[in-house]
Amino acid sequence: MNAIATVEPLVRARNVHKSFDQLEVLKGIDLDVTPGEVVVILGPSGSGKSTFLRCINHLETINRGSIEVDGEQIGYRLRKNRLEKLSNNQIAVQRRKIGMVFQQFNLYPHMTVLQNIIEAPCGIHGESRKAATENAMRLLERVGLAAKADSYPRHLSGGQQQRVAIARALAIKPKLMLFDEPTSALDPELVGEVLSTMRDLADQGLTMIVVTHEIGFAREAADRVVFMDGGHIIEQGKPEDVLGNPQHPRTRSFLSRFI
Ligand SMILES: Nc1ncnc2c1ncn2[C@@H]1O[C@H](COP(=O)(O)OP(=O)(O)OP(=O)(O)O)[C@@H](O)[C@H]1O
Ligand SMILES: [Mg+2]
Repeated sequence: MNAIATVEPLVRARNVHKSFDQLEVLKGIDLDVTPGEVVVILGPSGSGKSTFLRCINHLETINRGSIEVDGEQIGYRLRKNRLEKLSNNQIAVQRRKIGMVFQQFNLYPHMTVLQNIIEAPCGIHGESRKAATENAMRLLERVGLAAKADSYPRHLSGGQQQRVAIARALAIKPKLMLFDEPTSALDPELVGEVLSTMRDLADQGLTMIVVTHEIGFAREAADRVVFMDGGHIIEQGKPEDVLGNPQHPRTRSFLSRFI
């Protein structure tokens, strides 16, 4: 008989609530993500998907509940049974474990591709220029852009820029990658190359939470699909179940738009 190994989740969100003034956007989100897992979050506009990702990275503070990444509560620490806010420096250290890729790539226009990628490791995290450059070149190979190391972002296509943004997020060697609609700003013919890069990362065992409307990506690359609506997780499960046989009427109604 095989022993069943219990794996600690890399992300553990419990009863996460988030409001902006009177507007309650997250109404008690519970989600565990195990190391190596690829979770795709689907849901209508305004359902709180981006807000949830931003809370994981502490770009937003939560009002109630907790989010742990790699065993540490994000933004706070427990001291004498009380939660104490971490300093900006301590939060920056936590963020090192988390890479984020947005819809807008936000590359620095006055820096080359290589400079964009080594900026955080050298400038913020104190890596040597040589080590950061070697790592950046490996990452550029991985996203298929080694030949563009010395180009400026404006000379790249949108898809290439987003692959650079992915390499830049990977440069801090994160344990977790968050993607917020990484292909939504791209011309349709450029979407495939970015999704294919993301699929490679998933195959290589990176832990990823991906907000996307690309149902094909969810079907092929996700270990789990989570459907959010109105600040709640309505339904989740294997892609073939949630996408192929959704149980909740709201999931069915949402997915019907994609057929
Ligand atoms: N900084 C903010 N201040 C006030 N309201 C906000 C803020 N950020 C988000 N909201 C509101 O919170 C709700 C959820 O927004 P969020 O961006 O998380 O939705 P989403 O699911 O990512 O939607 P989309 O698919 O359109 O990206 C929306 O009603 C939005 O207007
Ligand atoms: Mg969003």
